[in-house]
Amino acid sequence: MEQDRSSQSRPPHVLVFPFPLQGHINSMIKLAELLAIAGFKLTFLNSHHNHERLTITDGLPLDHPRSGNWFLDMLEDTMELKMKESLREVIVNSSPPELGIPIIIFRTSSPRSFWVSYSIPDIIQAGELPINGSEDMDRLITTVPGMETYLRCRDLPTFCRKLDIEDSIMKLVVKQTRKSLQADALILNTAEELDGPILSQIRTKCPRVYAVGPLHAQLNTRLNAKHGESYDHFSNTLWEVDKSCIFWLNKQPNRSVIYVSFGSITSTSREQLVELWYGLLNSKTKFLLVVRPNSVIGKDGEGEDVVMELMEKSKDRSYIVNWAPQEAVLNHPAVGGFFTHNGWNSTLESIVAGVPMICWPYFADQHVNSRVVSEVWKIGLDMKDVCDRKIVEKMVNDVMVDRKEEFAKSAYEMAKVTNQCVNVGGSSYSNLDCLVEDIRIMSL
Ligand code: UDX
Repeated sequence: MEQDRSSQSRPPHVLVFPFPLQGHINSMIKLAELLAIAGFKLTFLNSHHNHERLTITDGLPLDHPRSGNWFLDMLEDTMELKMKESLREVIVNSSPPELGIPIIIFRTSSPRSFWVSYSIPDIIQAGELPINGSEDMDRLITTVPGMETYLRCRDLPTFCRKLDIEDSIMKLVVKQTRKSLQADALILNTAEELDGPILSQIRTKCPRVYAVGPLHAQLNTRLNAKHGESYDHFSNTLWEVDKSCIFWLNKQPNRSVIYVSFGSITSTSREQLVELWYGLLNSKTKFLLVVRPNSVIGKDGEGEDVVMELMEKSKDRSYIVNWAPQEAVLNHPAVGGFFTHNGWNSTLESIVAGVPMICWPYFADQHVNSRVVSEVWKIGLDMKDVCDRKIVEKMVNDVMVDRKEEFAKSAYEMAKVTNQCVNVGGSSYSNLDCLVEDIRIMSL
């Protein structure tokens, strides 16, 4: 953050640097837009790879406010590298008070997975890790404060499944998580009402935690108040959005379609896709499926072939796209369920839209998230560690037909509470105001 002692009327200047993956960029851009609305000057540092992809289409509408307080700063190769280098130095190696630059970390994944990652040394210390074979997977983990009653071995981040407690990814995640708590403040994409008990735990380690989410909903509220318009659901994406699925959805009855999408980095094997497909087909529910190019693992061209073959077999029952306008899809009246990998953005988008979930987590924070969705919030079913057409069929039937009312009701209640958080006077709305005020004070 740029210090300006000469003129206090100048807005604070915030440098925003996301971890360069779609899920992280999405929420980081939304946070940046919210700070821009508050009148801050922003520099958004992008990675070269994503910069290249964005030169085809940057996903932002033509009338997007690129000038003034907000600008997307895309740097040339060498500059970007130098910038990254110095940024790394600032964040990782330097002590903030010495440089006088306050550091605020925004962890884009879920608070509960953040808290689990923080607690891993205690889990190991208590002898609850490593996991001893598959029969051990349903054993409760008792050493993550606040999660003792529902967190099982199988719900831990996937790197915990390795027998080696010296695993390098595990060590890196623990190190970065613990380091995050040394920052001046921590921003989390959640609301007090969603993750209150865990936020209290995190605050015992870092008192300045701002729960300002769900960010996409908060952005909607603020844009509406400022310009009388809603957030553009098609922006912020690195892929070419296929909006044709909205026209297909327009022709379907209310809450009759299940949306199936696994985020921006997961991949499925040919066998898994076939099981999923038949499960969906046998369920008799129509489905909208996202299959990103090259996301089906098979021998040369086999992945693509299987997609084409299955598409042909079920064209009256389904619609397939490479990349969907997800927020718009989830908010479409025809959509009654979301078959998801539980990336944190997808989970929040589903909650805000009031859509129940079938959870099929892939890695990272997703295993924790799916447990919370099914066991704590009770707004979906967890299909973790299974991919069998009969189970897919049963779960789709449960959520879309047999237990439809039950899930629709709990998802509706959850959406109501969550949407209140981002409205004027709600917890996330007020927390964002506090964050903005505190950044102003920090930058004086
Ligand atoms: C990654 C991690 O996997 C996730 O666990 C972590 O919480 C964030 O970083 P990703 O796997 O991409 O993210 O999942 P997610 O967090 O759900 O983000 C995907 C984003 O892409 C969502 O905002 C979603 O709306 C968007 N999306 C996805 C689309 O717009 N269209 C699609 O077809 C699919």
